[in-house]
Amino acid sequence: MNKPQHVAIIMDGNGRWAERRGQPRAIGHRKGVEAVRNAVKAAGENGVKYLTLFAFSSENWNRPQQEVSDLMGLLKFFVRRDLAELHNENVRVHVIGDRRGLSADILALLTEAEDLTRENTALNLVIAFNYGGRDDVTRATRTIAQKVAQGLVDPARITEQTISDCLDTADIPDPDLIIRTSGEMRISNFLLWQSAYSEFIFLPCLWPDFDEEEFRKALKEYACRDRRFGATTDRAAAAAT
Ligand code: IPE
Ligand code: IPE
Ligand code: MG
Repeated sequence: MNKPQHVAIIMDGNGRWAERRGQPRAIGHRKGVEAVRNAVKAAGENGVKYLTLFAFSSENWNRPQQEVSDLMGLLKFFVRRDLAELHNENVRVHVIGDRRGLSADILALLTEAEDLTRENTALNLVIAFNYGGRDDVTRATRTIAQKVAQGLVDPARITEQTISDCLDTADIPDPDLIIRTSGEMRISNFLLWQSAYSEFIFLPCLWPDFDEEEFRKALKEYACRDRRFGATTDRAAAAAT
């Protein structure tokens, strides 16, 4: 079965999950953290090497202050509760997104998670936090412009690889599969550059209901996709071997 090396997930629908039960949105977010556990377990069991989870977007600051603070609190809760177990399971944690603008305690926790798990070799868990695809490209452009200004980079020699190397995902392969839950069919400023040739699967289930069965269903659908990368099926298959 054709398996994705990198699965990225837009974890959407926490608010609706709670609202449908007449509960505050915060309850949906809390339940969403449990679904994260399901996703990590399912990724590991299915031989996925990279799992990226979109946890907080650069636009999510536009939510009510209380909700933003709930989401920050849940990230802290998740790292504090699960870091030792992730480390035990040989999971390496990476964080992508703009770290400026995050509070000192969150920054410290994220850095601790990355440092502790740096040598781990099983699943790579990439947490996209305060992440926006346009922001990623903007910050990369700034980095390249600075190098040009310092005479370190010749503008004529800038390639796609130069840009990829300056993104937050520099050492992470592009996602093969992007899953979005909650039935919304949009990218919401997720990995814009990196998703150029990703396969998309939109699941109707709300994020708190996501489980290993949903993950397996998505992998099954992915296995039937014919990825051509602009070539023909035969040539794309030959290039992949
Ligand atoms: C996803 O659920 C969590 C984050 C965006 C952080 P939502 O909070 O977006 O849930 P809906 O889309 O309002 O149902
Ligand atoms: C995308 O979901 C961001 C995350 C899952 C973290 P949103 O709920 O923020 O996206 P929109 O607003 O529906 O496009
Ligand atoms: Mg949403």
